[in-house]
Amino acid sequence: DLASKLVQEIARKGNDIPEEYLHKNGFPEAIDAPDLWRHDLLIDLSLLSSSKLELEKLQSALSEWGCFQVINHGIESSFLEDLIEISKQFFALPLEEKLKCSAADDIFQGYGNDMVYAGAQTVNWNDRLFLTLYPDEKRKLQFWPTKPEKFGGMIDEYSTKLATIIETIYKAMARSLNLEEDCFLKHQGKRGLMTGRFSLYPRCPCPERVLGVKPHSDGATITFLLAEKEVDGLEVLKDDRWYKVPVIPGALFVNFGDLGEVMTNGKFKSVMHRVVTNDTKDRISVAAFCTPEDEKEIGPVSDLVSIHQPQLYKRFNIHEFRQMFFENYAQGHRTLDALK
Ligand code: SIN
Ligand code: FE2
Repeated sequence: DLASKLVQEIARKGNDIPEEYLHKNGFPEAIDAPDLWRHDLLIDLSLLSSSKLELEKLQSALSEWGCFQVINHGIESSFLEDLIEISKQFFALPLEEKLKCSAADDIFQGYGNDMVYAGAQTVNWNDRLFLTLYPDEKRKLQFWPTKPEKFGGMIDEYSTKLATIIETIYKAMARSLNLEEDCFLKHQGKRGLMTGRFSLYPRCPCPERVLGVKPHSDGATITFLLAEKEVDGLEVLKDDRWYKVPVIPGALFVNFGDLGEVMTNGKFKSVMHRVVTNDTKDRISVAAFCTPEDEKEIGPVSDLVSIHQPQLYKRFNIHEFRQMFFENYAQGHRTLDALK
């Protein structure tokens, strides 16, 4: 049953860590490069429409790294802190209360642990609450928490605020590549999907063998990540080296995903990332994944395909992609490789 698989329960009981969580050979350490995240990879959203320099920064961050931190995005720091705090309160509720948000027959929705598909796989050390945030009519409110009382309202407010930021970023991305301003927005559709993943990474007695999330790239076009300050964990891969991503208070971490790399015909990178664990502090994060409307066909935008830039990825249906993505993700494989 679900309760016995929840990482929070395993950690609480303090028994040996089950075999399926262990990366037997460990994993390489990450580099600490705090300056990088405060200069080259720090984007001021309020400057994107007026500053050519800021636009170039965005362009190089996405083509070289596939991620950046964004500030001056219009969401109050206090709101972001409250959202982390209320997520923490959700995970602190009694088990029976949280289980009311679990979905027995829908692995893409509700409260639970890492999804496990058939076959051998190393499991991630986290519990999560998955919710469709946007558009409103796709929300499955039966899985939305009623406790803490303000949680639902805050999630609703957060997704509305993010929708505006997303639009600004899509437009800036297009301009930075000299494309029509709404070319990515069109591709995404007016009713593009936003899914939220609220995660708890309990402190772990064996951080050198256990990962909060094993290496992967996101299936989304773009992902927004809010993480608890003073608890590191997220790391990104560039040129075969891992880099720690510091939490900058008030900033959001933005990363490009597989669908974004496909749409831009490889111009912008879908960044590989992972989450490490630690033995002193629990960690909370809130990820919002943005993908195109369900009915859409996905492929490189035509203006980015030419004799000089051959088409790198084939066209496919977003439905097929989703199925493929989650199976690959569970096995630690990359879906992008299958789309070439
Ligand atoms: C993820 O990439 O799936 C989660 C990232 C995080 O919690 O920092
Ligand atoms: Fe991710």
